[in-house]
Amino acid sequence: MNDDRLRDLLEKMTLEEKVGQMVQISGEFLEKGSVLTGPMLEKGFTNEAICLAGSVIGIQNAATMRRIQKNYMERHPHEIPALFMMDVINGYRTVFPIPLAQGCAFEPDLSEKCSSAAAREAASSGIHVTFAPMADLVRDARWGRVMESPGEDPYLNSLYCRAMVRGFQGEDIKYSGKIAACVKHFAAYGAPVAGRDYNTVELSENTLREFYIPAYDSGIKAGAEMVMAAFNTVNRIPSTGNKWLLKDLLRKELGFDGVLISDWAAIEELIAHGYCNGRKEAAEKAFGAGIDIDMMSGIYSEHLSDLVRSETINEKEIDKAVYRILRLKNRLGLFEHPYKDAGEEEEKKYFLCQKHRKLALEAAEKSCVLLKNEGEFPLKIGRKTAFIGPYVNTNKLTGSWSFTGDKKEIVSIKEILSEYPEYTENITCMQGSPMIEFDMELKGFDEEEKEKISGDEIEKMLDDAEEVAKEAQSVVMFLGEHFLQSGEAASRAYITIPSVQKRLFDRVYNVNKNISVVLFSGRPLDIMDISRKANAILLAWLPGTEGARAIMNILTGTAAPEGKLSMSFPWSVGQIPIFYNSDSTGRPYDNHIQQDRFRSRYLDIPNEPLYPFGYGLTYTSFSISEVVLDRTRISRGEKICASVLVKNTGRRTGIETIQMYIRDLVASVVRPVKELKAFKKITILPGEEKTVCFDIGEQELSFYKSDGRYGCEEGKFRVYIGTDSRTDNFKEFILE
Ligand code: GLC
Repeated sequence: MNDDRLRDLLEKMTLEEKVGQMVQISGEFLEKGSVLTGPMLEKGFTNEAICLAGSVIGIQNAATMRRIQKNYMERHPHEIPALFMMDVINGYRTVFPIPLAQGCAFEPDLSEKCSSAAAREAASSGIHVTFAPMADLVRDARWGRVMESPGEDPYLNSLYCRAMVRGFQGEDIKYSGKIAACVKHFAAYGAPVAGRDYNTVELSENTLREFYIPAYDSGIKAGAEMVMAAFNTVNRIPSTGNKWLLKDLLRKELGFDGVLISDWAAIEELIAHGYCNGRKEAAEKAFGAGIDIDMMSGIYSEHLSDLVRSETINEKEIDKAVYRILRLKNRLGLFEHPYKDAGEEEEKKYFLCQKHRKLALEAAEKSCVLLKNEGEFPLKIGRKTAFIGPYVNTNKLTGSWSFTGDKKEIVSIKEILSEYPEYTENITCMQGSPMIEFDMELKGFDEEEKEKISGDEIEKMLDDAEEVAKEAQSVVMFLGEHFLQSGEAASRAYITIPSVQKRLFDRVYNVNKNISVVLFSGRPLDIMDISRKANAILLAWLPGTEGARAIMNILTGTAAPEGKLSMSFPWSVGQIPIFYNSDSTGRPYDNHIQQDRFRSRYLDIPNEPLYPFGYGLTYTSFSISEVVLDRTRISRGEKICASVLVKNTGRRTGIETIQMYIRDLVASVVRPVKELKAFKKITILPGEEKTVCFDIGEQELSFYKSDGRYGCEEGKFRVYIGTDSRTDNFKEFILE
């Protein structure tokens, strides 16, 4: 439909029909069995509101979507097609590693392919819009939703957000297999005080702009069709009703002109925030801030028309919002093809197809991070080995946003062993303990996730595991958080593995010191004790459909680990929030030199994380030369080239991610001690050497200055080049 016809359609619509386009309802109202991702409180939707609602959330199969769309359009006065939206975060039926794990691959292009595959599968189920990528920068592992983010670095997050938008949307969302992306949660949802989900966010505007906005901006510049406002406050005003945030910053400054949707019932939550007196005021403030679509609060359908009739809201503003929504439907081609790619044949063709499974395997292999290895990995053929832990025989290897994946289609470690016959005869598998004990709080989740095992049964499991461990030459333990201990509404104060699994680890360690660990988690964990005692630790995160095969490929050496942490692993939860790009402070503490006690430090733990951002081992070793600069002074507009010589000093071909960090030593606002500005993944044969070069210009040196403007300032800089954020390999240069 051309734009003129779209505007003609808008002209013909009544006020109620226009407001209807601004209302999103759960598929639950139209079809039992849709996915509920928020509280389904009594919403008071009238039957008319349901018939006019412009979009639907939570429908996850083609047949249902086609039935709903057909009925919806037959009842609609102008036969306007509905938009079908869903959280397609890290895959659809083929599930990829959680985004935090994908960030560890340091390969945004790979995630673009994963997002494209996810779009292909989701589109075949009739989904038009995904509520992804989640672009929230994260620094606090107590927050359960760190699993949805690419990590703690604004540059890396920006690359991933752009890649995922491109993957979902492709060149044109009208094309087959493409869906609209929704960058979320605007803004700074990843910075809740104390890591407690939905809590207040307290940031300076400079920190907001420098660290949290870049990834959203990157997704918007990549053409994201939608943005979702966050639940949290910014500058003590809830994002959903925050005019400065949504109109001045998002629309005017960042230039976003797509559809702005609230988060689930967030408009209603303006009341609980103490920002609005009641539903009517919430409608007025949310609309006044620029929210186009009300997700599941019912408030827009209840009050917007009256607010227009009472001339509190100008109908022309309603027309602008409705035009953006109709334009999105038109860009998707829904007026001509209301079912777009939805079809059971398409689902059969694309779900878990070999191409997608292959991609899932590659992504899972590349997102695993080898944290420690004193020679245990790869496993030795013929060595009597025990595989012990609740992650040995579970197929729940996906994150909490992977409800569209069918766990029956995922094999466990134990099941995949048959593909490694040369190892199988010497490996004994033993669960050893439940994933979590029944008293663990997983409020609101399916009861079946809490295994009902008595204390005596647990003791028996631990005893049996101890016996198996005694007989083994070495033990590999498969341990980690329950997959529902991370994700939305899953903040944790103690970020350890479940206590029953720690009992299992200790019992095994008491009888066999040759322990390695494969760790599953949706967040960085406090693994201090495990890290001291285990000879090797492979972090698998929540690796998705091909997770078991990826892990076994790495454990047997078929694949080599190459992942680098996209988020710091704390030494202790007491350090949190902890992140590499922190400020020096006026009393920096350097534990390598003798200093007075009046320094920025703890009495009882180090400042450094246990494993830092950018860190990860592989099955070979590398040496890196000093940094070489082609010049030591540059003027504006010029570039400097910084290079290193990298040598593979091991016996295996290896992949290393060479990282380049900048430090601005003196500026009009304090600058971080390091900032990642570029990285290159290189493959080097044993004994081979390669030169890796990075160009540095104004772009790499710019920041939000004390006058609020973005740019660089003359002065002295350091350029660091290394294999993780701890590198002290630097040279200095001057910007004149
Ligand atoms: C949830 C999440 C948001 C998600 C939305 C729809 O509350 O905050 O990320 O997209 O509801 O499921």
